[in-house]
Amino acid sequence: MIVGIIGLGTVGYGTLDILTKEKERLEKLIKEEIRVKYGCALENVELPEGVIYTTDYRDVINDEEVDVVVELIGGTTIAKTIILEAIKNGKNVVTANKALIAHHAQEIFEAARHNNVKIYYEASVGGGIPVVVPAKENLVANNILKIEGILNGTTNFILSLMETDNLDFDEALHIAEGFGYVEADASLDLDGIDAAHKIYILAMNAYETFFDFDSIKTEGIRKVTKKDMDYAKQLGYRIKLIAQAKKLDNGYGIDVAPTLVKKKGMISHVMQAYNVVEFTCDYLDNVIFYGKGAGRYVTASAVVSDIIKTAREDKWIHAYAPKQKVVPITKSRYYVRTTSNLDLDYDIYFSEGEDNVYITPEMERSVLDAHVGDAVCQIFKVRG
Ligand SMILES: NC(=O)c1ccc[n+]([C@@H]2O[C@H](COP(=O)([O-])OP(=O)(O)OC[C@H]3O[C@@H](n4cnc5c(N)ncnc54)[C@H](OP(=O)(O)O)[C@@H]3O)[C@@H](O)[C@H]2O)c1
Repeated sequence: MIVGIIGLGTVGYGTLDILTKEKERLEKLIKEEIRVKYGCALENVELPEGVIYTTDYRDVINDEEVDVVVELIGGTTIAKTIILEAIKNGKNVVTANKALIAHHAQEIFEAARHNNVKIYYEASVGGGIPVVVPAKENLVANNILKIEGILNGTTNFILSLMETDNLDFDEALHIAEGFGYVEADASLDLDGIDAAHKIYILAMNAYETFFDFDSIKTEGIRKVTKKDMDYAKQLGYRIKLIAQAKKLDNGYGIDVAPTLVKKKGMISHVMQAYNVVEFTCDYLDNVIFYGKGAGRYVTASAVVSDIIKTAREDKWIHAYAPKQKVVPITKSRYYVRTTSNLDLDYDIYFSEGEDNVYITPEMERSVLDAHVGDAVCQIFKVRG
């Protein structure tokens, strides 16, 4: 197997390193030699002997010897060109690029099918945690009723820090930035877009349907305050950024929103930069995948297993239903904090200082909004 790696940053370099260190064992596994022929990046990095350095991705995708092109640049522009051209040239493709898959899955998979090549992208969701394979393959006996997850380590790190170190959002964000946890475009993390990319990929495979990514309602963590975290804690909850997908009566619901989760449940114990995905199924009931969702070797672990997978006979076919719009998930229990007195059904109510805090029974958001009227409120979903 001849491999070309395009992008030698955090994940690309980790991938190259694992393939170098584990070469012998992996070769035994697939019964063929594995040779990384190219490492492509804009700036020179130290490469193992025998790996050709290039700054031009075309050297990799146009080389007839290359079997697998590994795209680890990121973004939806040049990465898309590389993947589509590699596919056109008959190369198998491995990528960790969640943004690209979420926005262009249908076009890319159709090109792969048309050109009879393989494309794998396990590392695009949950870093090294195997969650795409379960969504696509392992749970196939089941109707997947719901997928929920903490899919963005940066926001989970910030929320954890706000709680454990008693910090405001801005203070916690500053620390996360210091650790290099926040993407160059902070909005991808903080506004829930990265989590939306990932839940899209899980939902697409679980429901065998392409979705219109832009119709996913995404709310991030910028408006979560220390005060809300304290109130949530008093009520036995934590606030987490939850991405969810489920089949509704009128279509498929996918969204990302800060949500109160019961402190007793497993999801609330996922702290720092860890990720979790829970599938609720009709036969298997609930199954949870937990682990590190980002990092050099964590993510490269999934990339390498996808590279190895291209050597196998079978091939993923994404013959999914055409793109459809996503329906907002509006039925939920809600947390409401306001200085007004509301005429509202509630399961829990307390007041502290000028604040009234309600947790409602399950209701439609439109019903809640009608009760809230013009009152200024902080509103979050409550899980379960
Ligand atoms: N980091 C993680 O933990 C993680 C986790 C899950 C998924 N992912 C995904 O993995 C992918 C890579 O992420 P990363 O964190 O490894 O990114 P990164 O550290 O920023 O590395 C990107 C690499 O791409 C190279 N590059 C950029 N433009 C290029 C071009 N036109 N031609 C050739 N090379 C080019 C860069 O080269 P120079 O440095 O020389 O500019 C760099 O080596 C992304 O899709 C990301 O979303 C990352």
